[in-house]
Amino acid sequence: MAFIDAPTNFFIGGKYDPSTDEVAIDDAVYYDSRDLTTHGLVLGMTGSGKTGLCVCLLEEAILDGIPAIIIDPKGDIGNLLLTFPELLASDFEPWIDPDEARRKGNDVTTHAAEKAELWRGGLGKWGITSERLQQLKDAADYTIYTPGSTAGVPISILASLKAPKQDFDTHAESLREEINGIVTAILSLAGISAEPVKDAEHVFLSNIFEHNWRQGKDLTMEDIIVQVQEPPFDKLGVMPVNQLYPDKERMSLAMALNNVIAAPSFQAWLEGVPMDMQSLLYTPEGKPRVSIFYTAHLDDTERMFVMTLVLETLLAWLRTQSGTSSLRALLYIDEIFGYFPPVSNPPSKEPLLRLLKQARAFGLGVLMATQNPVDLDYKGLSNIGTWWIGRLQSERDRERVMSGLQEAATSGDMDLAAVEQLVAQVKSRIFLMRNVHDKGATTLFSSRWAMNYLAGPLTRTQISTLMESRDAAKLIEPTQKVVASTPVVMATASETSGQGLPSGFDDSKPVVSGVDEFFLPIKSSASAAIQKWEDDTRSRADSSDDAQLAYIPVLLAQANVLYDDRKSDIRVERTYAFHIEDLDSSGFVTWKEYQVEPADRRDIDTKARGEALYGEVPTSLIDSSRLKSLKDDLEEVIYKDFSVMLPYNQSLEAYGHPDDDPGVFEAKLAQLAREQRDAEVDKVTADYDKKYDRLEDQRERKQRELQKDEARAATKNQNSIINIGEGIFNLVTGKRTSSSISKIGRAVSSRGAANAEVEETKEEIIAIEREMEDLKQELETALQDVRAKWDEVAQQKGEYEVTPYKKNIALDIFGVGWVPYWYFKSEGQSKFVSAYE
Ligand SMILES: Nc1ncnc2c1ncn2[C@@H]1O[C@H](COP(=O)(O)OP(=O)(O)O)[C@@H](O)[C@H]1O
Ligand SMILES: [Mg+2]
Repeated sequence: MAFIDAPTNFFIGGKYDPSTDEVAIDDAVYYDSRDLTTHGLVLGMTGSGKTGLCVCLLEEAILDGIPAIIIDPKGDIGNLLLTFPELLASDFEPWIDPDEARRKGNDVTTHAAEKAELWRGGLGKWGITSERLQQLKDAADYTIYTPGSTAGVPISILASLKAPKQDFDTHAESLREEINGIVTAILSLAGISAEPVKDAEHVFLSNIFEHNWRQGKDLTMEDIIVQVQEPPFDKLGVMPVNQLYPDKERMSLAMALNNVIAAPSFQAWLEGVPMDMQSLLYTPEGKPRVSIFYTAHLDDTERMFVMTLVLETLLAWLRTQSGTSSLRALLYIDEIFGYFPPVSNPPSKEPLLRLLKQARAFGLGVLMATQNPVDLDYKGLSNIGTWWIGRLQSERDRERVMSGLQEAATSGDMDLAAVEQLVAQVKSRIFLMRNVHDKGATTLFSSRWAMNYLAGPLTRTQISTLMESRDAAKLIEPTQKVVASTPVVMATASETSGQGLPSGFDDSKPVVSGVDEFFLPIKSSASAAIQKWEDDTRSRADSSDDAQLAYIPVLLAQANVLYDDRKSDIRVERTYAFHIEDLDSSGFVTWKEYQVEPADRRDIDTKARGEALYGEVPTSLIDSSRLKSLKDDLEEVIYKDFSVMLPYNQSLEAYGHPDDDPGVFEAKLAQLAREQRDAEVDKVTADYDKKYDRLEDQRERKQRELQKDEARAATKNQNSIINIGEGIFNLVTGKRTSSSISKIGRAVSSRGAANAEVEETKEEIIAIEREMEDLKQELETALQDVRAKWDEVAQQKGEYEVTPYKKNIALDIFGVGWVPYWYFKSEGQSKFVSAYE
């Protein structure tokens, strides 16, 4: 068995021994997924295998159900879609670089066959099966987004200008940070470099955002340009706008922004799926997504803009999540160069720093790679928990990394000089891993074979091919709430009275006393309503121009209900509306039959608007004592029968909000289950580790016996250290890492047994080793069971009923409701169609 396929433990490679220059494939190296929540940085020169290692980490994360957002400035990461479980030459062929084939003296087909063989061999060696490849392919939905281009899936930046769902004042601090970031990004796109708080255009634009967002208003670029010219407020702080930021300057800002949207290429920025983090991370069913932002086709400014927006959108999404100790999602930036420099302050820097600081609590791991350590901000590096250092050729880079390591070190237990010497000469794919969670211990290893075909940068045509089958519209489904409505379409013919009024109607409003009156809003115009009536009934109106507004009275009840449940700690608001036209004939009211779609409270007037016809008011509608008892009855009915159902998982004691976007609750369950699973993995592993320790002790005793017998024989020191020095050797092998299955996951075969003289002791050692091997197998099975158990738990979905408290039922709209209709004629007959639909 090459490695233990277990949850929580990412299989990333095999130990590397610098003294023999060998990679021990069966001495697997694992990485505890939880350690990624303190972020990881991969350093190494071009070709050192950074992207390969990160692809391995991503593959493990995806297999474990972790969604990922990936920023791909070089275009390599689309390789995550090249998963070929059968490893056929024909799978590889479309992705072969013809130039590379030619250089190797191959035609494309031969070259594809060679690559397929290379991958088959590499994966085989590392014990990776085609089932695992298939699992990887199935584990997530993969999408390549190409902002500003339709080569892949285009993505609209407009969604990021949407007002946040949270209350502004409660989240003022973080929302202002978000605004700062977006404003900086927008200004940079307009070629203006302005600093938050300091520069007038920045302060001004930020105020426009705040002003609109406070009122829950979404913004578009057009809105922003209009409001720059005509600000929706007079003052900035205590100063008049005109004094701080005069007309002329506002005009030139508006022009600059206008140039941005006037550029033909800008249209492409508006098209596509909205940049909504929840939908970029999960499907509506809660399945993880891998969303790759391909930015290789963009210029520096545009790339910076995309990066900043992704970071800000991610930060905003994080704030809506609950805390967790397990890994929830990954952000991978393949080439961090330019986004996080030491001295200058590009728009991406501040949000990235904020993200590094805040992400941990929410389980977001940030993984970054760079070939230019010198270009990384020093402060930011202290937020990185794991360093993977590959080959670094330049002395400046090495020095930088060593001083960074020193800074991040928890104890001065590292021989930096030795490390520096090592990284100057290691081969590609060899990395020194330093993880703060391993108490500063380091591991020297080679990355395992990547499961995906590392074809290198994909061309735009290749990306189109990969994304062609997908329908962008299908990727992110709109969340529509369906509200049951009972349309009151009344199209009965009635006699016309002498003055041309339909019978039962008057052109002045009947006097209603002692009862509240409400006028419902007109939702469809006469022409639209009549057109619809014509289509539905296949008839024709005599003319739709002279349609008249006619109000028909109903008993109108509209209740606002707050469901405030202590146990689930979830609050849901619902509005229910009822229209009863024939109150005279309905004695006992079955309210649900009269339920209609509620009107927005703000659209309900208490006075008529303009001229209209009015229907007769049934006597029971103005019977105030009857109304009073109906009101009490309705309150009782809502209390008893109008409950709301929350999605519920009993095992995890988790409740969902019924108004959440699809997939949110599923993702929450997956995360809760993951936390419990990770804890159980630790426990199970600790139990096995104990058993394993005992066997190891036994084996050691037996080996000492053997050694006594061998004492006479000359032994040569197998551990002589060649060329790199003792410092490294201790550094690499001296300490145990904390990765939960590292100990038992190690190779068991001992080299000592080979020289045994006493057959019996040899046999005994072999028997102990067999037990150890069995134990490894048992552990794998036990951990797989743990995974299966919690996967199962996360799938359970039930419902939890919440009924309202009486005090939370507000029946403030109760009385005569005037429902608008359009009155017109068809073949001389009077017709009415609802204007309230
Ligand atoms: N884990 C891996 N499995 C298989 N091949 C790898 C792996 N890592 C790197 N390689 C090979 O080495 C080449 C260079 O590695 P890459 O990760 O692209 O380097 P870097 O990102 O540091 O420039 C890749 O194109 C690939 O052929
Ligand atoms: Mg790379």
